[in-house]
Amino acid sequence: MVEIAVMGYGVVGSGVVEVLTNHAENIAKRAKEQIDIKYILDLREFPGSPFESKFTNSFDKILNDPEVKIVVEVMGGLNPAFDYVKRCLEAGKSVVTSNKELVAAKGAQLLKIAQKNNLNFLFEASVGGGIPIIRPISQCLAANDVVEIAGILNGTTNFILTKMIREQMTFDDTLALAQKLGYAERNPAADVEGHDACRKICILSSLAYGRHVYPDQVHTEGITKITLADVEYAAVWGGVVKLIGQVKMMENGKLQIIVCPMFIPRESQLANVDDVFNGIMVRGDSTGDVVFYGKGAGKLPTASAVVADVIDCVKHFKARKYLYWEDGSKDYVEDYLLNE
Ligand code: HSE
Repeated sequence: MVEIAVMGYGVVGSGVVEVLTNHAENIAKRAKEQIDIKYILDLREFPGSPFESKFTNSFDKILNDPEVKIVVEVMGGLNPAFDYVKRCLEAGKSVVTSNKELVAAKGAQLLKIAQKNNLNFLFEASVGGGIPIIRPISQCLAANDVVEIAGILNGTTNFILTKMIREQMTFDDTLALAQKLGYAERNPAADVEGHDACRKICILSSLAYGRHVYPDQVHTEGITKITLADVEYAAVWGGVVKLIGQVKMMENGKLQIIVCPMFIPRESQLANVDDVFNGIMVRGDSTGDVVFYGKGAGKLPTASAVVADVIDCVKHFKARKYLYWEDGSKDYVEDYLLNE
């Protein structure tokens, strides 16, 4: 049995608890270990919840409990998430997060602490919601030089643009609907001003090119100035307006990274990525274009990626134990398939 803690019981946190509870049997089979949620950290109270006994408002309780081996951070924002995650890693707990703000700003630093302590710091859910993209870029496409990545990386703005185009709904009404459906950030300015997409293209760029790219290095424009006239004009010219995050490797070895609304011709695969869906094109020098598509926001898609990372942590944990027993090695074991 592996004990975990979930920090944050918002849209994603409640999804994580739901997925871990409803799929407990299958997840235990895949992880080869039962996973138990020992604590849920939230400042609010949830009387009558089936998980009432697990709620705590004390981070120290989680930090100081040696039974807790994995902590899921789904609070969002940089503070106190950074402090909490750092202290968990320093205390010997692996961390799984969906927090793109945290990963974009502090990912390199946190990965270093995790590796030093032979732990996992995993963040598949930080980009693309339920779409697998972090592992594909950092592992499956690792033999490629990445020529370009271009993607619709924010579900909320794509939802807004789609509704504007198809139903002539106003910006404000569509944003309110996206908030109600749990797609938007707590502060939706991060969505509509492009900061969320910026954080995500920074994470993908850092992984693809092995150098940490920070959000304040990237020119970022959101969709607040896009009008119905713009989307109609794009349609006349045979395309659509999409908020795109793009990184290209230039001939001089520099990265060109931008987030802004772009005109996308109808025949492009990205033009047909609608509603809350994300679409991410990765152009490798060997593979050519590889396109990832799926729900980029929302409770269960994002929870799916978080829980997959938790399973991975458990498998890693077992793989490390196995190596310790066999040859006494304490080297960092990167290949989680060793256990299979
Ligand atoms: N607010 C984000 C989006 C959530 O709309 O894409 C997923 O990161």
